[in-house]
Amino acid sequence: MPHAPVDDTITIPQMVRDPYSVYARLRRETPVLHVKALGRTLLTRAEHTKWVKDSPELFSTNDPDTPMQRAFRAHTLMRKDGEEHARERGAMAPAFSGRNINQCWTPTYTRIAEDYVAALPRGETVDLFTDLTGPYAAACLSHLLGIPEVDAHTMQRWSQILIDGAGNFGWDPALFAECDRANDEMDAVFITAADRHRAEPDQSALSVMVNAEDPIAQSQIHSNIKIAIGGGINEPRDAALTIIYGLLSNPDQFDACKRDGLWTQAFEEGVRWVAPIQVSSRVAKEDVEIGGFVIPKGDTVMTSQASANHDEAVFENGHLFDIFRAKTPHQAFGNGPHFCQGTHIARRMLANILLPMLFERFPNMELADAGKVAFTGFGFRGPRSLPVVLN
Ligand code: HEM
Repeated sequence: MPHAPVDDTITIPQMVRDPYSVYARLRRETPVLHVKALGRTLLTRAEHTKWVKDSPELFSTNDPDTPMQRAFRAHTLMRKDGEEHARERGAMAPAFSGRNINQCWTPTYTRIAEDYVAALPRGETVDLFTDLTGPYAAACLSHLLGIPEVDAHTMQRWSQILIDGAGNFGWDPALFAECDRANDEMDAVFITAADRHRAEPDQSALSVMVNAEDPIAQSQIHSNIKIAIGGGINEPRDAALTIIYGLLSNPDQFDACKRDGLWTQAFEEGVRWVAPIQVSSRVAKEDVEIGGFVIPKGDTVMTSQASANHDEAVFENGHLFDIFRAKTPHQAFGNGPHFCQGTHIARRMLANILLPMLFERFPNMELADAGKVAFTGFGFRGPRSLPVVLN
């Protein structure tokens, strides 16, 4: 069986700027393609990306070539397989339960949303990235994780440093030094907070982990809180901006949403349309066949959920934001054992709390300059600013 064809034309800046037109071409012409600039075999069809994620016996998440372990100073649960992964994921799971979402997080998140929405000035132009969705996502996460004493600004700073470190493929020592400083700050906060949680347990992730009957190692508690910081702010922040942009640029959908409360449809369509986490890597544990090509043992495949969510075989006109499209499973939260642990939290935060509250207060919101909203990013994707006029 042949090896996948090799591409040496696609560049990373091109993928950061406009990945969707590249994906559309690859789905059509070469859906299994080794892209030199990425150093990985890129999979762009929905059936392939889902199959890889759903086949942990064939694909490991322990991608050895990423700087993530160095940036986090430990292996996180995202890079573990099998029993080890299940044990660490299970340690945090009680914090994410439906009962806790209803009883703990919904009232807390509602209060946080009320504070941020009430502070927005009517009649003025504000950037929702800096003034609403970034700090809201960070503040909600600090409560879920059990470190509410950390302000939203610091949470966002740590998150960005961890993300930059995990993406430090040039192995720049200055960037890792910055990660080390942030890791020291985080570890100190977690140690103090853990003492508090031992004395006064609650339902937060740190609390349930330190108070478990058979706790996982402290190093793992810390690294998994860090993966949640690195992976629990950007996505709800970017998803909210994408949904708001989608609604404000489609007035018929915006009107229906307000009239009939279609916030859940808007949420699912927003994360499908522009997946906040666009790609995920897996390593072949043995020689495997995908789409008629052999992927040799040890090779890394990059599954693009962004592309899967636009696949013509699953979605008609997938490039369009359309909250009325027929309900069809998308892959924005991944698949298989590493399926996003925060899915229900994110849905509750945005579809049930923030979006209805925001548009109840500002039903006539408008984009300040529709032509200027630019989406960017290859790994994470969303608008880097969203100026709107609040009315
Ligand atoms: C719209 C919002 C979100 C999106 C689109 C999203 C997307 C994803 C995706 C695609 C993965 C799988 C990555 C892979 O397969 O390698 C993932 C994993 C994960 N997500 Fe989310 N996420 C969101 C919000 C959150 C939130 C709010 C949290 C809260 C802490 C969170 C926590 C996690 C964790 C802990 C994992 C790792 C799970 C594991 O490896 O077992 N996510 N997320």
